[in-house]
Amino acid sequence: MAHNPIICAIDTDDMDKAYSLAQAVGPHVGAIKLGLQFFTAHGAAGVRLLSEQRQPIFLDLKFHDIPNTVAKAIEATAGINTFMMTVHTSGGRTMLQRAIDASMRVADMTGQERPLVIGVTVLTSMDQDDLDMVGVRAPLHEQVLRLADLAQSSGLDGVVCSPYEIDMIKRQCGHDFKLVVPGIRPAGSEKGDQKRILSPKEAVDKGADYIVIGRPITDAPDPAKAAQEILASLK
Ligand code: C5P
Repeated sequence: MAHNPIICAIDTDDMDKAYSLAQAVGPHVGAIKLGLQFFTAHGAAGVRLLSEQRQPIFLDLKFHDIPNTVAKAIEATAGINTFMMTVHTSGGRTMLQRAIDASMRVADMTGQERPLVIGVTVLTSMDQDDLDMVGVRAPLHEQVLRLADLAQSSGLDGVVCSPYEIDMIKRQCGHDFKLVVPGIRPAGSEKGDQKRILSPKEAVDKGADYIVIGRPITDAPDPAKAAQEILASLK
């Protein structure tokens, strides 16, 4: 394991809670994921505050808009020091290519490594009926592979996928295409609303490059200890 693949999802709009969680788990995880809930409440200033603890930030805002707007939004992340962000692959090839171009400009502006741009394929909250209702007739797994292929051929760095899609996407996209995998539950933890789960070690052994873990860490009585134990379980 060349790096710490654990990304801790901090899903809260409570700044004090987010700050103390980031401080506690920071030394034991590879990055912190901040999403729409935190960002809508605290914006770029809030993200900056957490990243000042030298914690790499995964900004999971799932951009999906016209190519110019997505590109400008990505350029605007230059001020908040993110190492990874998400876009919806269903935004289409031009949007994805413009997203990557924008990430290169971010690297130019910051003098740091280019942030990774990761695609969301089909939200795991959607089933075949939901796809049908938005006019997608293809079987769900085919749609996931189609969008992963579009992401890769447009230059994206990888996709978010469920633990059970790792094999199929690795097979199609190869080993350099990064897989960011939520739906992870350490042995003995509550499944919550995650239905299709793997343990951290199972997911990494299958080929997950990053594992996204929220509540098993953030709701634990001692989040730092929970993160440490998950890291130890990967060895
Ligand atoms: O608390 P939990 O470990 O379930 O959190 C997982 C994180 O990953 C949450 O931020 C959730 O929104 C996100 N996520 C997910 N399933 C997906 C994509 C993202 O659980 N398919």
